[in-house]
Amino acid sequence: MTSPSIIDVLNSQFGINGRLHFELGEGELPMAKITTEQATAVLSIYAGHVLSFVPNGSDDLLWVSQEAIFQSGKAIRGGIPVIWPWFGPHPNDSTKSSHGFARRQMWSVKASMVDENGRVSLTLGLTENEASKAVWSHDFDLELVVTVGHVLTVKLKTTNSGDVPFSYTAALHTYYNISHISQVVIHGLENGAYLDNLEAHASKQQVGFVRFDEEVDRIYIDTAADCHIEDEGHKRTIVVEKSGSQSTVVWNPWIEKAKRMSDFGDNEYQEMVCVETANAGNEIITLQPEETAVMTLTISERKA
Ligand code: BG6
Repeated sequence: MTSPSIIDVLNSQFGINGRLHFELGEGELPMAKITTEQATAVLSIYAGHVLSFVPNGSDDLLWVSQEAIFQSGKAIRGGIPVIWPWFGPHPNDSTKSSHGFARRQMWSVKASMVDENGRVSLTLGLTENEASKAVWSHDFDLELVVTVGHVLTVKLKTTNSGDVPFSYTAALHTYYNISHISQVVIHGLENGAYLDNLEAHASKQQVGFVRFDEEVDRIYIDTAADCHIEDEGHKRTIVVEKSGSQSTVVWNPWIEKAKRMSDFGDNEYQEMVCVETANAGNEIITLQPEETAVMTLTISERKA
C-alpha cells in the first residue's frame, strides 16, 4: 500500500467539511483553502503565508505578483509574508538574507476550528531547526493564527522557548490590492515620525496623508495607529487595524526598483501598496525565556 500524501494527511487531521481543505497549489506547495459564509481565503503552509482574502461580493484585498516565485527557499512576492526574526537587512551580517528566515521555511499545521459565528481559524507553527540555527542560534516557538470571517485576522505569536533572552524585529508585510497607486491615500500616519529607508534611515516627519508619486520606503515609528487605505478607483477603503505593533512600514517600489526586482512586473507598482504591521526600526522586542509577545493584524473593507 502506498503511504498517504501530505495533502491526505492534512485533510484528514485538519480539514473541515465544506469550510477548509488542503491541496497542492502553485509550485506544488501545500495550500489551505478556506470558505466561510462571509469570505474565502488561501494560505500557503510554506512560509506561513496568507495569499488571498476575498470578502463575499468583493475583489481580493491582498495582492500577489504575476511574477511571484513559489519555490521552497524563495520568498513569495505578495500576500502577507511573515518577516521574522529581523526586519530588513540583518543588523550586523550582510551575508544573511533580508527580512529573516520565517518566510523561506515550511511551517507546520497545528490546529483548525470553526467558531459559533462560522469563522474558520487555522493555526500554523514554526520552531527552531537546522536551517534556522545556521543563521540564528535561538530556540523559538512561532505561531500564526489566521481567522477568516467578514474580516481577516492574523495573529503572530512569538515565544522564547530557549533558556536565554533573545531580541527580534518582525512584520506582517502585507501587500494590498489597489486600483492604481495614484488613486490611493493612506490615513492614520499624519504628523508621524518616520525613518526613511531611501536616505539611510534619516528621521523625518509626515506632513498630511501619505500619497504616492515616487518610491516610498518608510518605517513610521512609535505608532500603534490603525491605517485606512482609501482607494478612489475601487471605491473602497481597506481598514488595517493592529495591536502589539509599534511601527508601520509603508512601501511602494515605484518604477526603477520594480524593474530591478526579478519577481515583480515592471508596471505592478501601480497595483499594490504595502502597509506593514511591524515592530521594526527603533522597536526591538526582547523576550525572556518562556515569555510570549503577540502582534495582531485585522483587515476589512468599507465600500464607499
Ligand atoms: C520592505 C522594505 O519592507 O520590503 C523595502 O522596507 C524592501 O526596503 C521591501 O525593498 C521588499 O523586500 P524584499 O526582501 O521582499 O524584496
